[in-house]
Amino acid sequence: MSVISLDRTSKKSLTRQLYEQMQQRILSGVLTEGYKLLSTRAMANELGVSRNVVLEAYDQLTAEGYIESRTGSGTFVAAGAVYAAKESVSLKEVKTIGFKSFNPNIIDFRSGVPDLSQFPVNQWIRITRDVYQEATPAQLAYGSPEGRAELREAIAEYVRVHRGVRCHTEQVLVTAGTTQAIGLVSRIMLHSTNKNVMLEDPITSDIRYIIEGFGGVIHPVGVDENGLKTKDLRKLPKPLFIYVTPSHQFPLGITMPIQRRVDLLNFVSKTNTYLVEDDYDSEFRYDAMPVNSIQGLDPKRVIYLGTFSKTLCPSIRVGYIILPEELIERGRRLKWFADLHNATMDQLVLARFIKKGYFARHVAKMKKIQKRKREVLIRSMEKHFGDKVSILGSATGLHLTARFPGVRFNSELLQELEEKGVKVYPVEEHAIRAGFYEDTIIIGYGMLDPGRIEKGVEILASVLQLN
Ligand SMILES: Cc1ncc(COP(=O)(O)O)c(C=O)c1O
Repeated sequence: MSVISLDRTSKKSLTRQLYEQMQQRILSGVLTEGYKLLSTRAMANELGVSRNVVLEAYDQLTAEGYIESRTGSGTFVAAGAVYAAKESVSLKEVKTIGFKSFNPNIIDFRSGVPDLSQFPVNQWIRITRDVYQEATPAQLAYGSPEGRAELREAIAEYVRVHRGVRCHTEQVLVTAGTTQAIGLVSRIMLHSTNKNVMLEDPITSDIRYIIEGFGGVIHPVGVDENGLKTKDLRKLPKPLFIYVTPSHQFPLGITMPIQRRVDLLNFVSKTNTYLVEDDYDSEFRYDAMPVNSIQGLDPKRVIYLGTFSKTLCPSIRVGYIILPEELIERGRRLKWFADLHNATMDQLVLARFIKKGYFARHVAKMKKIQKRKREVLIRSMEKHFGDKVSILGSATGLHLTARFPGVRFNSELLQELEEKGVKVYPVEEHAIRAGFYEDTIIIGYGMLDPGRIEKGVEILASVLQLN
């Protein structure tokens, strides 16, 4: 026992050190079953510590079953406490996933991120302080899976007025962004024996992986200049649900016209299935009013998904599902099982931010800023590429796509572009069936200022050398 050594300069208490060293000796078999320990007084003397330190360490070891005291005869190592600790996993094997951080030396045309320098920090801080100052015990306790009524009311009103959604507050389920919403919708639906999910092709690759992860069998459906090719749906097995981005197809940027919407809804209603409408960035429609949701045309058949990632910032992690009535309870139950509910105080801050009219003002301001960036981008593209490029999907959102017939955006070309200081994203990365979009890239402009947009296009042109 005397090899125990205690370090008086350590941040760990003497009791903790003694407890851990004795525990190690017992686990590794140095002190074997039945071994008689020194009395607490003798141990304290030997280590030069107060008896309390030893008493506390012995008490802890007794409580955890490592040692046992036998009345009248002393304290002994208990049976069955030998276990060779396994080696820890090498951390070098852990891959990082999620968004790569921005390299300030590269002009990064990443899509899906708004101009974060415009986040309304001061208003947010003021509201956050007020909300915490006024917090009640009920607000600090566990909440309900559907989310705070204040936020659900604000969302319901917003989507009714601005997105033509027809809903009651009770249909709103607050989620951790659309990403969580996709998982929840998959779980709500995929208890059926039918696992067929129809997805636009191309589509954000994460959407496919999430639905597949929950057991969905993906059937890619091509996209033409009017969006999802509804004709092709008729050649496929009966769907469980169909997932679309009709306001601004991701990544191609198409806005689905009414005729295609009607055709899609007729199909959905005839096959008695559901349509999932992902309305991720339609607030930013530049030359006209945003196109209304499909949900407003058939609220019973459409599950509507919205997010604050594009209008405020992605890190806020707040989105929502507007569920048809028959799916509300199941949706709430699955949200509860997933994470109980979104953080209450964050919901209250956002609800107040919307109620005070700050959100509507922020969106209007961002629309102006994005519009200017979009104009600079299109002008630069026209200047450098003329008729060598076709620009798609620039009417809405935070990105457009650019098709360069004859160019292949393979890994060598992308690498060369990055070395020259510009990063673009191939549509092919989001294609379910390979080979249709090798000449097309996504150009996100939300985060870049006009000067960097111009410079980025100039570098792109110098590498592609199309003129
Ligand atoms: C098609 C689509 N929908 C929704 C989102 C938003 O996801 P979230 O709300 O989880 O940030 C994205 C993200 O880029 C997307 O590409």
